Amino acid sequence: MLQLGPLTLRNRLVMAPMSGITNLPFRRIAKRMGAGLVVTEMISAVGLTRRNKKTCRYLQTHPEERPLSVQIFGSEPAIMAEAARMAVGAGADLVDINMGCPARKVVKTGAGGALLRSPGRIGDIITAVRAICPVPLTVKIRAGWSPGGPSATLIARIAEDCGADAVILHPRWVSQGFSGRADWDIIAHVKSRVRIPVIGNGDVRSPFQALAMREQTGCDGVMIGRAAIGNPWIFQQTLDLEQAREPKAPAIHERKEIISIHFSLLMDLAGEERAARIMRGLLMWYTKGLPFGNRFRAAFTGIEDLPTMTAAVDAYFSCLEDTSRGLPGACPRENADRALFAALIQEHVGP
Ligand SMILES: Cc1cc2nc3c(=O)[nH]c(=O)nc-3n(C[C@H](O)[C@H](O)[C@H](O)COP(=O)(O)O)c2cc1C
Repeated sequence: MLQLGPLTLRNRLVMAPMSGITNLPFRRIAKRMGAGLVVTEMISAVGLTRRNKKTCRYLQTHPEERPLSVQIFGSEPAIMAEAARMAVGAGADLVDINMGCPARKVVKTGAGGALLRSPGRIGDIITAVRAICPVPLTVKIRAGWSPGGPSATLIARIAEDCGADAVILHPRWVSQGFSGRADWDIIAHVKSRVRIPVIGNGDVRSPFQALAMREQTGCDGVMIGRAAIGNPWIFQQTLDLEQAREPKAPAIHERKEIISIHFSLLMDLAGEERAARIMRGLLMWYTKGLPFGNRFRAAFTGIEDLPTMTAAVDAYFSCLEDTSRGLPGACPRENADRALFAALIQEHVGP
């Protein structure tokens, strides 16, 4: 369990906010797979306060994903406070402030990672949001803008003094983008200097690494991002490992089931055309490392419509099931779906 202000999470695992990825269906899947907390993609405070329709859609939620953290980004204290008020009104159980995004279009407005150069502004924003925010407030920071600038420890202490309930720390410099590696020693250092919980984040790729991060840094919670894309099982596997149970790889039928649930949640949210577009990207991840994955992905890139997509996925997983049961031939042709997969492969990548 993890205590964030008055809120008790069921465990210490948090799904990272990822723009373009952690939409509502993704968060619901992560929650089903054991994440203790999920976070929305970062949402523009300016867009929210201007009642921009597309921006406001990011606030859509579902009871299954609660408790939900809504992440906002911006640079003006009053606008951030108003955006936080709207997020809480829309059902946020926590509000998180993005203070780490390195994307140029965000940084040039003074938001995201740019804030780490301005400790005074950070204090103003957290104070303003805290004043109107009745739910737990967290801030997600990086190691700093660049070495030699204001440190993560300084920023975390400001956050604590201004009333934040926890700090989430991804210990790369903003100037680093995603290159190099996350320096977990910085998490340990920040943890030793503040009283509020510290959630560590960065380069956790397996359940073993999730546990290692806690052991090495003493952090209170672990946030997992990229490793959960196409692999939401990582949450349950980490919980298993925590309980000294062997983390189990999902069976083929379990993978297929989650993919089809993901598909249908996306269709409900976004309609057939957009769901197909998003799912095409996700399937690249869901099939990563699986047998014939390369051939399936190559075959799949040419498919536009949802019925063919669904048939190809069925065909692929039938092949995998046959293979795992030791049936001869990876792609037997005796039924239409399997033949479709085989034909797709032939059409796109040759025999
Ligand atoms: C595609 C993508 C989108 C991201 N979008 C956000 C975002 O909206 N807000 C945020 O705070 N961090 C964002 N991040 C950073 C992640 O939350 C996380 O800090 C980073 O990926 C390091 O964790 P990981 O090594 O477990 O992936 C994003 C990362 C990726 C790869």
